[in-house]
Amino acid sequence: MWKAVILIGGPDKGTRFRPLSLNQPKPLFPVAGVPMIQHHIEACVAVPNLQEIILIGFFPEDENLKNFINHCRKEFNISIRYLREFSQMGTGGGLYHFRDQIMAGNPSGIFVMNSDVCCNFPLSEMLKFHLKYASPSNSSTILATNVPSKESMFYGCLVENEETKEVTHYVEKPESFVSPLINCGVYLFSTKIFGMLAEAVLRNQEEMYAQGVFSDSLSLSLEQDIIMPLTDLGSLYAYQTTSMWSQIKSAASAVYANKLYLSLYHKTHPHRLAKSEEGGPMIIGDVFIHPSAKIDPTALLGPNVTICADVRISAGVRVRNSIILNEVNLSNHSCVLNSIIGWKSTIGEWTRVEGTAQQPDPNAPFAKIVSGSLFDHEGKLSPSITVLGGNVNVESEIVVLNAIVLPGKDLKSCTKNQIIL
Ligand code: GTP
Repeated sequence: MWKAVILIGGPDKGTRFRPLSLNQPKPLFPVAGVPMIQHHIEACVAVPNLQEIILIGFFPEDENLKNFINHCRKEFNISIRYLREFSQMGTGGGLYHFRDQIMAGNPSGIFVMNSDVCCNFPLSEMLKFHLKYASPSNSSTILATNVPSKESMFYGCLVENEETKEVTHYVEKPESFVSPLINCGVYLFSTKIFGMLAEAVLRNQEEMYAQGVFSDSLSLSLEQDIIMPLTDLGSLYAYQTTSMWSQIKSAASAVYANKLYLSLYHKTHPHRLAKSEEGGPMIIGDVFIHPSAKIDPTALLGPNVTICADVRISAGVRVRNSIILNEVNLSNHSCVLNSIIGWKSTIGEWTRVEGTAQQPDPNAPFAKIVSGSLFDHEGKLSPSITVLGGNVNVESEIVVLNAIVLPGKDLKSCTKNQIIL
């Protein structure tokens, strides 16, 4: 029997995702029409004998989160629970704090996943690999992928023995190049990790006492306190994927992940992809349309577009490479390119909202868009997608280019390369 844990972080995390994480926890942000972590949950459900999915984070358990969990329980007929950390415990602290609940029922191993990765989650393949290469009761498996050398330093880098698949060296965000093989934030751990975490807690406490600091705060790091010790013990094995993988840190990376998940739907959920039909809008490439959206037949949508619930799209509208969130209204002949339009926003007639498409590295099998700083070295806003927060109203006949607009703003004039606070 197997279990899965998804690390969902909390309100202090996801700062690079603002203003979109101001309205809603980032793990519930819709990518390709479903909340970001539903992609993880759907992958877990496909693993034979995976009996429970546990979300660990420090978000308050609000209606959004409760409704999402109830919806998934019903839809996928699996036990899903949310365990809330009393304070931010780091990526390893929650695993240790809730160890008894995770270990209840005596699972053979635990899948652990970062919530902010976009991936086809080859969990069943990882499990087969784990049973073949690792010794499942003692060893663990990490999902790894190759990235261009320049990009690798933004991630945890690992070196493996190509024959045995054992990870021989691991460095988190190295200052100079170590290896193009990186940590994808998806693991299959043996239950031995709880002993390692207990040792890390003791070590931390001893260090604190030695420094005369007395605190009962528990913060552990999955990379430092599990991955590195596992590597030192020769108990970590790398399962390499050549399939899609990307992080979702910034809004721009959500648009990129939207494109990747939509393309994956051809294999996994073809019914989620819209088609041009008589009386409906013209569709180009991969597009998701929520059934409650009302779209004029003269609109032109795609490729790489997600239209969420209760959106209204009027005559002559053009949308490309964008995510349009719930209850947005796009008026006649407006145009939205490379953008995210926040909940309940309104775009006026003949208005153009446009961002800069991120160009993936053509040499990478699946290019990864790294976090990306908002500003360049001269302090100017880096060209990126345009993001409108919730309840933004953009008047008619206006151009909004490469802008980030905070929720509730009323835009009456054109704007370019600005953050509207
Ligand atoms: P950065 O590039 O600095 O963001 O590092 P990273 O990509 O390794 O991400 P980070 O370690 O911050 O987070 C990895 C995953 O763990 C994300 O899904 C976070 O939401 C989650 N996470 C981070 N901190 C915590 C925490 O204190 N508690 C819980 N439960 N989850 C966390």
